[in-house]
Amino acid sequence: MPNGPVMRTYGPRRTSYTPPAVQHAAARPASTGAASDLLAPYLVSEEPYYRAVADEVELYEAAYSVRMPMMLKGPTGCGKTRFVEHMAWRLGKPLITVACNEDMTASDLVGRYLLDANGTRWQDGPLAVAARHGAICYLDEVVEARQDTTVVIHPLTDARRVLPLEKKGELIEAHPDFQIVISYNPGYQSLMKDLKQSTKQRFGALDFNYPEHDIEAEIVAHESGVGIEIAKNLVHIGERARNLKGHGLDEGLSTRMLIYAGSLIANGVAPLAACRVTLVRPITDDPDMRDALDSAVTTYF
Ligand SMILES: Nc1ncnc2c1ncn2[C@@H]1O[C@H](COP(=O)(O)OP(=O)(O)O)[C@@H](O)[C@H]1O
Ligand SMILES: [Mg+2]
Repeated sequence: MPNGPVMRTYGPRRTSYTPPAVQHAAARPASTGAASDLLAPYLVSEEPYYRAVADEVELYEAAYSVRMPMMLKGPTGCGKTRFVEHMAWRLGKPLITVACNEDMTASDLVGRYLLDANGTRWQDGPLAVAARHGAICYLDEVVEARQDTTVVIHPLTDARRVLPLEKKGELIEAHPDFQIVISYNPGYQSLMKDLKQSTKQRFGALDFNYPEHDIEAEIVAHESGVGIEIAKNLVHIGERARNLKGHGLDEGLSTRMLIYAGSLIANGVAPLAACRVTLVRPITDDPDMRDALDSAVTTYF
């Protein structure tokens, strides 16, 4: 059974792994000097299990080699966060993740003056730490942040690669290892909650979606600990539910939810009950929809 409720079942580092051939001329290893001590907590030491779906790993490596800002697009629970964790491990770069929300301000990203016993002192925010010392900075669900917050990333995403700390009167020139990555769910976008074109056009983008049947079953089995046959049935249920999207369901049933179902089953919960708790009840309050989903479950269990 995997460790912990989020099922971070990182497998052993693959011996076949060879570092990417293309190295940025100015790239430095993350393991020298004082800066690396600061970033040490952000290094991904064990390989996060990631099952590649297409050529996203190679494309991301190429994007990183030129430090292209990247945007990971796709529905919730389909592997975006896991992918960036895996890529940070592959590239041997620290990863600083910021979960964006609408109360977040530019200061939460770049930093602020703090008052302490000796007066005021400046504290870099996560974006400033990443830019100064050379980490991958991952802004998760970036559309949740207000647009006046997201514009602070602009100067880091063009040729200048700088971050102005206006309150401090300093201009950080981004470390050669620094890269910015954002994720967002295009399904949630509304007129009020979308990225500005001026922001979007600064990024390369990778599309994520629920993986194809056999691959998704492999992921569900690996992450939850159920056998492949049960995992396949869970994926069938997921696919049925995804067909109801737009006909009463706002969001498809995610890979994450199928893993939840699998982990309850792997822990001895009866499949029907496990599916109700993890797949059906969370995504609908509508009795008819609930019945439709329940009957999809009984088809397979
Ligand atoms: N391609 C994949 N390889 C490995 N695990 C995956 C993959 N896609 C999804 N997962 C699993 O699904 C879970 C949810 O994915 P996550 O990366 O958190 O989704 P997102 O960030 O897109 O909302 C992960 O914790 C992981 O267990
Ligand atoms: Mg995520």
